[in-house]
Amino acid sequence: MNHDWHKKYGSIVRIAPNHLSFNDHSAQKIVYGFGTGNVPSMAKDPRFFTPEVDHSMNIINECDKNEHARMRRMLSFAFSMSNIMANEDVLKRRTDEFLDVIGGTINSERSEKGIDIVQKFNYVTFEIMGEMSFGDSWDLRLEAQPEHRYHWADVIVNATFMNDVMRAVVCIPGLFSILEQFPPAHSRKTLYRHAEYATEHTTARLSIQSQRKDFMYHILNAKGPAATPKEIASHYNVIMMAGAVTTATFLSGYVVFFSDIEAIDSKSLLSCMYLNAVVEEGLRIYPPAGAAHLSRIVPKGGCEISGRFIPEGSRVSIHPWSVLRERANFHEPSQFIPERWIGASPEGQKGDKLDRSLPFSYGPRGCLGRNLAYLEMRMILAKLFWKYDLHWMNTNELDWERDTKGYTLWQKPGLRCTFKARTTITVLEDKDLMVKTV
Ligand code: HEM
Repeated sequence: MNHDWHKKYGSIVRIAPNHLSFNDHSAQKIVYGFGTGNVPSMAKDPRFFTPEVDHSMNIINECDKNEHARMRRMLSFAFSMSNIMANEDVLKRRTDEFLDVIGGTINSERSEKGIDIVQKFNYVTFEIMGEMSFGDSWDLRLEAQPEHRYHWADVIVNATFMNDVMRAVVCIPGLFSILEQFPPAHSRKTLYRHAEYATEHTTARLSIQSQRKDFMYHILNAKGPAATPKEIASHYNVIMMAGAVTTATFLSGYVVFFSDIEAIDSKSLLSCMYLNAVVEEGLRIYPPAGAAHLSRIVPKGGCEISGRFIPEGSRVSIHPWSVLRERANFHEPSQFIPERWIGASPEGQKGDKLDRSLPFSYGPRGCLGRNLAYLEMRMILAKLFWKYDLHWMNTNELDWERDTKGYTLWQKPGLRCTFKARTTITVLEDKDLMVKTV
């Protein structure tokens, strides 16, 4: 709908009394960028980025620039390429376990209903994030819980909707504090349970001595003032959500939009260029945070955005979907065309404005998990299609764009698939998959 408004009214649309939505590239740079000599970078909007249910602040919801800079410095080594490469074994092992599960259980071809690949994508990204975060305590803590192993993963998925309900609630004066005093059952089962899990896993990890270089190791050994256990748990609250759901969303969208599964054969996987193009196009056509208005506040003195002066204190954001489905930016914007990312191909010479696709946002609040996300997407996709022919069964019942609900993150319907082992498999070197993309 937001995209329709932009098509009708142009690049600036007022979507609430003090909130402007933009869909052009110059605005992307100003709203999310590092700032210029005249206009400082824009702070996050405290009405949208509210404290967690336990009142904690973290790397995502902190709006104060200095406090955020401290947090980002503390977390940055954990997310660095060198640390992620040092944890490569987690990525490979968890991906292989996922492949065994989908191929080995009710496996496939003969099963009438297939298995829900969206759920399995959620579980594999959850396992990767969890083990990288908590190291040795991860499995121990999961095995000790009375609920099934993936209960937290399910809670996270269901919490994405409640997150945005709470953001809408803050717009009505007084309602937020009433709901804090009397949290509805759904909220208790999702947002509150999610925060509890983050705290329980943090406590479990802090109670063991480990030299393993998990994320916690780097948080505890970072220079500067030590974070409290409550703050650390709050970072894990968002890391587990931002880290697991987004990558799983990409993988699910990929299965839907890349209907020409036959095109993904061993040869195309060996070509990293094509794999990169496929990943970039998947992020463009179904951006995991693409429905979100990641709002910012115009700084003191106001500034010009998209050729108009916008007064200080205004709430501004870019609507990514409207940028990515705009014909002026991408030819045939609703079509999945990986070749548009390959300059030497005919599709790559049609003038697409590739720099407008910013799935990880940009600037001082750009995604900290980008390196890990690229490696995960490449590893899981490549190994999945290397090993199996995937057959999507409920194609006729589903209309992906109609049936996925866009909050800040997407709520997705199930995709029922069967998996048939490929008959000829060539050995794929892991090094082929670990090359950094764009
Ligand atoms: C395809 C996968 C992913 C996409 C599309 C994505 C997208 C984004 C976007 C758009 C933001 C900006 C949010 C804002 O302005 O509020 C962001 C921030 C962030 N992401 Fe990701 N993300 C992905 C994967 C991950 C992973 C795997 C992790 C963790 C391991 C992660 C951790 C973070 C963190 C910590 C921030 C906050 C950065 C800050 O404010 O300093 N993300 N991500």
